[in-house]
Amino acid sequence: MSRTFELFLHETKQLIERELPEFIRTINTESRLKEAMLYSIEAGGKRVRPVLLMAVLDAYKFPIKDGLEVACALEMIHTYSLIHDDLPAMDDDDLRRGKPTNHKVFGEATAILAGDALLTHSFYLLSQITHVSAETKLHLISLFSEAAGAKGMVGGQLADMLAEGKLLGVNELASIHNRKTGELLAFAVEAGAVIAGTTPEDQRKLRAFGKEIGLLFQIKDDILDLEGSVEAIGKPVGSDVHNDKSTYPGILGLDGAKAMLASHYDQALQSLNELGLRNTLLEDMATYIVNRDR
Ligand code: IPE
Ligand code: IPE
Ligand code: MG
Ligand code: MG
Ligand code: MG
Repeated sequence: MSRTFELFLHETKQLIERELPEFIRTINTESRLKEAMLYSIEAGGKRVRPVLLMAVLDAYKFPIKDGLEVACALEMIHTYSLIHDDLPAMDDDDLRRGKPTNHKVFGEATAILAGDALLTHSFYLLSQITHVSAETKLHLISLFSEAAGAKGMVGGQLADMLAEGKLLGVNELASIHNRKTGELLAFAVEAGAVIAGTTPEDQRKLRAFGKEIGLLFQIKDDILDLEGSVEAIGKPVGSDVHNDKSTYPGILGLDGAKAMLASHYDQALQSLNELGLRNTLLEDMATYIVNRDR
């Protein structure tokens, strides 16, 4: 990891860790609900989506602070998706971000509501942005809704459930991964491009890069579910096998999944090549996602 990237990761994470809880602390609501929301938000997490958004801004020489609200909204929606993903009715996991899952601490009903509240508040946060035009704001909200909703993450989560116990083809699995995980990561990249006001051509190419990153991210997540350590990933190992999930290692074997990871990494770099953005923090981000152990 280059020193520049290490510093960037540290600084952006610090900014997010500082500002994100503030957006929740100021909500006028039951302290129990706020406590449950803050519990998962402050449990840590890699903050990959916010950092990715800010890396795009940096690549286009924009101040990273211009992405703060959208980055925090994205992390809120992502955190809600994790709270719900861990529920007994879904993956039924007990550990998340190195701590007992939200429902283990607050009970299922409060965990569901904490997720609902994070989801809703992310849209409120987007509605409050003042440093972009109203038109840009609407565009961001529209992209965000599509990425997070039935067409994107939520639909992908259902498709993931329906695929339990089935032996899918690689293309079918890629489509599930793209939706349940890829769309939110691609939004991170696209939102950076929209805020930076890049050309439509660059936006199209950045979206292609974002989709590769999204797929990479979930393939690596599947591999870590088998090979990772509980201490490093902060969640249970073997959850996918236990739930009979369709995963890349399940279809292609561990070595096949790693080969697929390498091939999508190459495609991500190829997209950056086309954008003239090799050797930027975006390349470092792709490398970080492939090599991560957590
Ligand atoms: C985990 O996401 C769920 C997936 C979409 C694969 P992350 O690996 O980004 O989880 P945190 O935010 O670091 O906890
Ligand atoms: C979940 O995928 C993706 C989400 C939309 C939350 P996983 O179920 O594989 O995520 P982890 O492994 O529990 O973090
Ligand atoms: Mg899941
Ligand atoms: Mg899960
Ligand atoms: Mg997983």
